[in-house]
Amino acid sequence: MKKIKIGIIGAGKIAERLHLPSYKETKKAEVIAICDVIRNKAERLAKMFNIPNIYTDYKQMIKEGGIDAVSICTPNYLHCEMTVFAANNKKHVLVEKPMALSIKEMKKMINVCKKNNVILMVEQTQRFDPAHEVFRDLVQSGVLGKIIAVRGKLGHSGPEFWSDESPWFFDKKKSGGGATMDVGIHILDLIRFITGKDIDSVSSIMSNLVKKKLKLEDNVASVIKFKDGTMGIFETSWTTSPYEVTVQVYGEKGKAIVSQANYDPQRIRAWKVDPKNPYNTVEEIKVKIPKKSRHINPCVYFVNCILKNQKPFIDGVEGMKSMAVILAAIKSAKTGKFEKVRI
Ligand SMILES: NC(=O)c1ccc[n+]([C@@H]2O[C@H](COP(=O)([O-])OP(=O)(O)OC[C@H]3O[C@@H](n4cnc5c(N)ncnc54)[C@H](O)[C@@H]3O)[C@@H](O)[C@H]2O)c1
Repeated sequence: MKKIKIGIIGAGKIAERLHLPSYKETKKAEVIAICDVIRNKAERLAKMFNIPNIYTDYKQMIKEGGIDAVSICTPNYLHCEMTVFAANNKKHVLVEKPMALSIKEMKKMINVCKKNNVILMVEQTQRFDPAHEVFRDLVQSGVLGKIIAVRGKLGHSGPEFWSDESPWFFDKKKSGGGATMDVGIHILDLIRFITGKDIDSVSSIMSNLVKKKLKLEDNVASVIKFKDGTMGIFETSWTTSPYEVTVQVYGEKGKAIVSQANYDPQRIRAWKVDPKNPYNTVEEIKVKIPKKSRHINPCVYFVNCILKNQKPFIDGVEGMKSMAVILAAIKSAKTGKFEKVRI
């Protein structure tokens, strides 16, 4: 069996915690090279995960490393240039969220991958949580009736608690922004995944409430108007402790909540009512959540897409649609107006 040969660019936290362990879960791929500008970071992960080849220049790894595909695990401002270089050298690309910093960059990534006939997938982790998969099925089954409103919140205590070696998160030129770019994209993309609905416009307020030393927002609250008129709200934060991911969906016939927090084992709660007698009826909807994602994990799914020559359900266009909302949310916080989502 042909194994897909993977090269990792960026030997930081997400490579260590997600990409490298995830590729180990399939026999259809092997990580044969890793690159970091800081050589000892690449060496450390190469040792931990048994990777034979180490590079400090990603272009050299792509040209000479004998790889079929890359995982791009570097700071956000590098995602576009690395994707373009990899695609022009016929390598498939799995790029970390946020996909890139502007619509111009994302369009370039999509076009170059298309021209070179390589797969472009955006690593939106939340879409591979089995509870989110089951919750999406529930919402889209119609059991809650017509969807009226959606609320989402994703927050944690900030990147400094994720990686104390990564000051780039707080450098706007490298990250593209604060909590909105970093974690807002997770919850907004999850809302789009669960509802399957596109967003027309957004209005936001952003603030720096706690981390005064940062010149970036640590909290944002946004109102979203979906194209079909559904109403939504999303909130995101670098000051939420303990960690939280919650989506609530309100339909004509019931409501449902999914939450992800290791201190709260009950992931999904859902109820339906008889619309003719909504005050006096309520019936719990029971849902079974498998232990694993139906795609195993994002990296295994990426490998399977390559082998089947199949478009990922979170491809460049889908990634850009979510990022376009985030960019409009950031603009709205400055203009004080509802901003149209433009692609
Ligand atoms: N999906 C998720 O849940 C999730 C979680 C955290 C981070 N991320 C994303 O993953 C990406 C990386 O984040 P992280 O937390 O691993 O950051 P990190 O700082 O821990 O790792 C980034 C690594 O990239 C290396 N690097 C920088 N420039 C490079 C270059 N030119 N060539 C090669 N290597 C280079 C750095 O030295 C560093 O080791 C970001 O885009 C971030 O938004 C995603």
